[in-house]
Amino acid sequence: MKVAGLVNFAGLLLVNGYSLKNIQFQIVIDETTSSVTSLRDAQGNSSIDWVSSHDNAPWQPLGSRWGLGFADLGAAYLHRFYWTKPNVNTGRNGSYEAIYTAGPLQITVRRTLDSTMSTFIERYTFQNNGEEALDLAARSKAALAIYTPFNDHYTNTSDSLNHRSFAHVWANGGSNAWVKLEQMGGHGRNLGLVVTEGSLVGYSIESRDMITLSNTRGVFQLHPALPVLQPGESSSVEWALFWHSDWDDFFEQCQQRSEQFVQFTISQHTLVPGEKAEIVLSGGVNSASLLNGSPVSCSSSDECTHNYTAKSLGRQSLQVTTQLTDGTTANSTAYLNVVPPVDELISSRVNFIVQKQQVKNGADNPNTGAYAVYDTQAQSIAFWDKGTDRTTGRERLGMGITIARFLRLYPNNTEVRSSFEKYYEFVTLKLQSDNGGVYDRPVGSGTSRKRLYNWPWVLQFHIAAAQLPFKVTSAGKTPVDWFMLTLESFYREGGTDLYAIGLPILESLRFLKQGNDSARYDRARELFVGHGEVILGRGLDYPPFEVNFEQSIVAPAAIIMLELNRATGNETWLEAGELQLTTLLRFQGRQPDHLVHQVGIRHWDGYWFGKDRHWGDTFPHHWSTLDAVALHHHGQITGDDQHLDHAQEILRNNLALFSPDGTAGCAWIYPLTVNGRETHYRDPYANDQDWVLNHILYVDDDIRQSSP
Ligand SMILES: *[C@@H]1O[C@H](CO)[C@@H](O)[C@H](O)[C@H]1NC(C)=O
Ligand SMILES: *[C@@H]1O[C@H](CO)[C@@H](O)[C@H](O)[C@H]1NC(C)=O
Ligand SMILES: *[C@@H]1O[C@H](CO)[C@@H](O)[C@H](O)[C@H]1NC(C)=O
Ligand SMILES: *[C@@H]1O[C@H](CO)[C@@H](O)[C@H](O)[C@H]1NC(C)=O
Ligand SMILES: *[C@@H]1O[C@H](CO)[C@@H](O)[C@H](O)[C@H]1NC(C)=O
Ligand SMILES: *[C@@H]1O[C@H](CO)[C@@H](O)[C@H](O)[C@H]1NC(C)=O
Ligand SMILES: *[C@@H]1O[C@H](CO)[C@@H](O)[C@H](O)[C@H]1NC(C)=O
Ligand SMILES: *[C@@H]1O[C@H](CO)[C@@H](O)[C@H](O)[C@H]1NC(C)=O
Repeated sequence: MKVAGLVNFAGLLLVNGYSLKNIQFQIVIDETTSSVTSLRDAQGNSSIDWVSSHDNAPWQPLGSRWGLGFADLGAAYLHRFYWTKPNVNTGRNGSYEAIYTAGPLQITVRRTLDSTMSTFIERYTFQNNGEEALDLAARSKAALAIYTPFNDHYTNTSDSLNHRSFAHVWANGGSNAWVKLEQMGGHGRNLGLVVTEGSLVGYSIESRDMITLSNTRGVFQLHPALPVLQPGESSSVEWALFWHSDWDDFFEQCQQRSEQFVQFTISQHTLVPGEKAEIVLSGGVNSASLLNGSPVSCSSSDECTHNYTAKSLGRQSLQVTTQLTDGTTANSTAYLNVVPPVDELISSRVNFIVQKQQVKNGADNPNTGAYAVYDTQAQSIAFWDKGTDRTTGRERLGMGITIARFLRLYPNNTEVRSSFEKYYEFVTLKLQSDNGGVYDRPVGSGTSRKRLYNWPWVLQFHIAAAQLPFKVTSAGKTPVDWFMLTLESFYREGGTDLYAIGLPILESLRFLKQGNDSARYDRARELFVGHGEVILGRGLDYPPFEVNFEQSIVAPAAIIMLELNRATGNETWLEAGELQLTTLLRFQGRQPDHLVHQVGIRHWDGYWFGKDRHWGDTFPHHWSTLDAVALHHHGQITGDDQHLDHAQEILRNNLALFSPDGTAGCAWIYPLTVNGRETHYRDPYANDQDWVLNHILYVDDDIRQSSP
């Protein structure tokens, strides 16, 4: 259907373009560039557009619309030929084709609606019409890119929950690439993408900056893996888009729609030496398939298993080679991590902090006694970095709490104990006022602004210190005295409206109760319940905080509800917590890679906390372990072992932020490139990642306290 002028789709918006439409899909293609500007469900929820373009993401540059892209055609093109101007485009009968050319390269983009399969198929063919071999990946594997702007943005809560989707992207494993989109609000069926021909080498992120800040995932690019094209040769990447309900349905349909798709089901993605993982392969596998070159054992024609035993430390790849019906092979790779035994890793990290990250110079330095940001490249405390997220206050409290929990297990470690005692003085004398207020940076190091997020961390620090088997005091006050002062200050300053990360409700109420401190218990409980009632009342109507909408707004809501249930036994909190947990779990994907598997989407902390200041996906990032805390509580309440295991999986996958020698990095920047800079590495700053270890120790301790 060729349409001149304006078309009205479902009364939603007026568009100018070519329409590709059947009973499943409503797709609009821009006639000037041949990019896809809209993709809606013709049957389910058409109120969501799965593609970002001018109508729903006005901040997105025009050149990065869906289906456009770039290739490196050498110096004459300044290594960046962007295909935006087709010299031929034709649409007829449910199919559309656009051809772009530059120098020797011809790119043909064909789009077809397949009604029998209920799919929308896109095929990108790269042909070398020149007289010399063409290697589009000569300079970098990210040099060839197709834009796929998924509609993953945090405008505001209601818009996100009603009109946006999370993009769970798996592009790093070769032939089994897929993308599962998931409506943030869970309103009906979702769009999936599975690669049916060719393979991908990864994805990148563009268009992140200081203007849109943390509120957009950015523009995605998928990077095809192409062979060197000899003169006259061509190579294609093809994918199918389809509707699905949940993860099981998604993977099931990937298997049906793509012969080369291999599904990895892995019992755990992070192991310690000697541990075993069962790897179940399904989809494009059979008894001729190989895993890292060795035969696999198959119980049926399309399900095989391999028992993996962890040996050497570090990131491990599992490559599955599949035979396709046309006689060629396809390779799909999954990634596991092998780490030292967790208590050894924690011990090594604690020793590193105590020896290298505690500020030691004289009494006139306001930071003396603090645990500070460490630059693993310079091998020094990053004393030159004065940024707000690099002070010795704020998230750095995570180091102190981790050390308090460590000392509970190893109180006789005198070096750690004496370091902690200095740190306790630092927090109480430099980061706090006499009446329990919390500063953003130590007294004497510049103006501190009020940031309510800091209070709960100090509360957690005091309650952890209160549980030490030896006495700590500062300014004549015990940790419980400090806890109560800080608690009163928090709620006086407006804490009731904060979706507070790390508020130690269960831990403190349990401790005060066990100590028979009924006056303080009653007061703390009253304050916590009042806070919980605000969050309960808002339900899914989340207020904006430092980000408009995010995983670490939903996660604390879930944790606060579930902790109140555990602390009070009142069922209202459980029901409210489950609503939050359902919303929270949509942030998590199931990529076969320990760095991403079940790690909630976050994509800004590389900029705020890292040395290299990258925007873009952080997989993993320590606040994803808040999901583990929520799942752990839920498992404890309901006895659901799956949630307890799921919690452990998230905690363990975050151990990629630590090295066996005790060095660490605060964010693993996962895309191949972000805004054109090479990434896919761990940021060099050890900054606030120790929350992972804190949560591991907390969950372990809670299991000990909860078991009869
Ligand atoms: C156009 O599409 C319809 C429905 O899919 C099909 O029956 C018909 O044969 C197609 N016509 C051409 C010319 O391809
Ligand atoms: C939320 O964002 C949408 C899309 O940007 C906008 O139309 C709407 O007015 C916003 N709502 C609020 C309450 O800000
Ligand atoms: C579609 O989404 C809207 C807004 O999110 C929601 O209110 C509605 O129930 C959904 N409709 C269907 C059919 O799922
Ligand atoms: C893997 O281990 C399980 C449990 O030990 C065993 O039942 C199964 O046969 C093993 N599978 C293979 C392929 O060795
Ligand atoms: C798959 O991997 C094997 C072993 O590494 C290699 O020999 C083969 O060429 C690969 N196949 C493809 C299509 O890349
Ligand atoms: C610490 O030392 C004391 C005295 O030597 C001993 O009784 C206690 O068991 C030790 N505690 C731990 C946790 O090792
Ligand atoms: C609290 O009271 C209970 C019951 O009277 C008692 O068993 C327990 O030892 C007391 N705990 C403390 C820390 O005093
Ligand atoms: C449970 O908590 C809710 C919210 O605070 C409260 O309204 C309700 O009365 C409580 N129920 C019981 C049985 O205490």
